[in-house]
Amino acid sequence: MNGQFHDWMTSTLADFEVNLANLLPGITTTPMHLHEAMCYAALDGGKRVRPLLVFAAGRLFDAPAELLTRAAAAVEIIHAYSLVHDDMPCMDDDALRRGKPTVHVKYNEATALLVGDALQAQAFIVLSEGEASAERKLPMLHTLAKAAGSVGMCGGQAIDLASVGQALSLAELEQMHRLKTGALLNASILLGALSGKKLNVAETNALTNYASAIGLAFQVVDDVLDATADSATLGKTAGKDAAANKPTYVSLLGLEASKLLAEKLRNDAHEALLPFGEKAQHLRNLADLIVQRKA
Ligand code: IPE
Ligand code: IPE
Ligand code: MG
Ligand code: MG
Ligand code: MG
Repeated sequence: MNGQFHDWMTSTLADFEVNLANLLPGITTTPMHLHEAMCYAALDGGKRVRPLLVFAAGRLFDAPAELLTRAAAAVEIIHAYSLVHDDMPCMDDDALRRGKPTVHVKYNEATALLVGDALQAQAFIVLSEGEASAERKLPMLHTLAKAAGSVGMCGGQAIDLASVGQALSLAELEQMHRLKTGALLNASILLGALSGKKLNVAETNALTNYASAIGLAFQVVDDVLDATADSATLGKTAGKDAAANKPTYVSLLGLEASKLLAEKLRNDAHEALLPFGEKAQHLRNLADLIVQRKA
């Protein structure tokens, strides 16, 4: 990781943590128990890859800081909700997330359900408020809603649950990964871009290709790490996919071919960014981070 990128990431994330906390309901506001659990789920943990993508894409289009921050918080809040529900007994039944007990373990199942529901609503509150015009925000709200819903993340989660014990084809597996994980990563990049000046057709195509590559790469690497890393490093239970009989890139292609695919997708992402030149350096570095991460 180069020094300039590291410095940008450190300062961006430090600011983001403060802003995210301010964009969630305070824990002294009624109902305090629910608000505390929402903060438990969303704050203090996570790599914050989606916000970083929002900020890095926003740089390409001179996006205003306030709107970018709202977009970054909104997508991270949707992501946090998706993790709370993903971990519940009716889904992956996980006890560990971001190095802490999962929300339903720490609190209870009903609270976890409501934390997810309320976080999802909060994301749209955050993105709909603020200084930007309604005209600017409407396409952003639509982009986030579509990525979160039944043709995005929720749809992917439905396919994931229906696929336990099934032998999916490569095309079916790719479709599942593109929806359950790719959709929100894709939305992060689009939200960054939509926060700023209008994209031309070539820019839209370039960003779409980049987003498509890193969106899939992210879940391929998640599958690889589930099979190769330990729980302490991951902050979540390792080896769950095989134990739960989930179809993954590792179960379908094997470990080495999955790693090669992630590497190919990293190259595709770099290639897609060529038209942006030096300005896209942070997006390039984020593609590297997504593929080379250890957790
Ligand atoms: C985990 O996402 C769930 C997937 C979509 C694969 P992350 O690996 O981004 O989780 P955090 O936010 O860093 O905890
Ligand atoms: C989850 O995929 C994707 C979401 C929409 C949350 P996984 O079930 O593989 O995520 P982890 O491994 O539990 O983080
Ligand atoms: Mg899951
Ligand atoms: Mg899971
Ligand atoms: Mg996983």
